[in-house]
Amino acid sequence: MNIFQHVSDIGDLSKALDEAFEIKADRYKYQALGKNKTAMLIFFNNSLRTRLSTQKAALNLGMNVIVLDVNQGAWKLETERGVIMESDKSEHLLEAIPVMGCYCDIIGVRSFARFESRKDDYEEKILQQFIQYSGRPVFFMESATVHPLQAFADLITIEEYKNKNHIEPNPLFGGQPVERTPNRRPKVVLSWAPHPKALPQAVPNSFAEWMNAADVDFVVTHPEGYELDPQFVGNARVEYDQMRAFKGADFIYGKNWSCPGVTRPEDYGKVLGDYHDYADWTISDRQMAVTNHAFFMHCLPVRRNMIVTDDVIEAPTSIVIPEAANREISATVVLKRMLEGLK
Ligand code: CP
Repeated sequence: MNIFQHVSDIGDLSKALDEAFEIKADRYKYQALGKNKTAMLIFFNNSLRTRLSTQKAALNLGMNVIVLDVNQGAWKLETERGVIMESDKSEHLLEAIPVMGCYCDIIGVRSFARFESRKDDYEEKILQQFIQYSGRPVFFMESATVHPLQAFADLITIEEYKNKNHIEPNPLFGGQPVERTPNRRPKVVLSWAPHPKALPQAVPNSFAEWMNAADVDFVVTHPEGYELDPQFVGNARVEYDQMRAFKGADFIYGKNWSCPGVTRPEDYGKVLGDYHDYADWTISDRQMAVTNHAFFMHCLPVRRNMIVTDDVIEAPTSIVIPEAANREISATVVLKRMLEGLK
């Protein structure tokens, strides 16, 4: 595997899941594979989970790891070709990328949407330059439009939990055990929730893309105006009534996203209206009551009582921590596949 961006890059999903569970059972099984190989993780934006889980994945495989926070300690980078470089940006991405490629075998890049141009963001202008000029396999650690390491971890988590019928309380928060009816082909609902700031569409885009490829009954719910790009949402059922969407659901995936600009390109990257007016979209016991004791998921970080109430995220059916733990597993599978493909 030379690029990890879309669900199609991982190939057969059931094989990828088998590999994930093999690695979960023995995460050091392939430790010899990465000997004398170096992963370089480049962050243009902040991260907790991606930074830590991907480093851990590289270590699981016996790799060396270099982490670069571009905005802390490196030269400020110009990303536009043709610019007269008289600002505070001392280095051009077109030199920086091949230089970075000299020092590693595999590159991971995090570079969020800038919301300056829908076209530039959706063409993945930054990541495409890494693919073109680094000379190395490149995996996306959340780009302008996708977060495949997250979506793969989400799929692993759904696969692990879909057959569970008895859920013990979270030892951190207590409560009563939950008995639920398992569902081999679960109903999975991606629900928009309010947020004060404009967030990218990378997580919902990838989640939709991966759920469309998985064996689940997938539904997306959001207020009008937040329609996801057709290349990701595909033929998934879109429901504007959140309560109707939640009915009988087995998994609720909460997430905010800003306007994708599908119906009104001029609204791309905006928070539509006043987010206080959407307070009833915050995921609470009211919506969860109509589900099949659904598991609650979120990629984290999450704003409590904005996206989801304390009660829901602390409930025995909240699986946000095991979901985050699976980030190590998805990253280990992806790095393993890339190591196997090195010439
Ligand atoms: N979910 C996720 O990608 O978390 P970080 O932004 O902390 O890496």
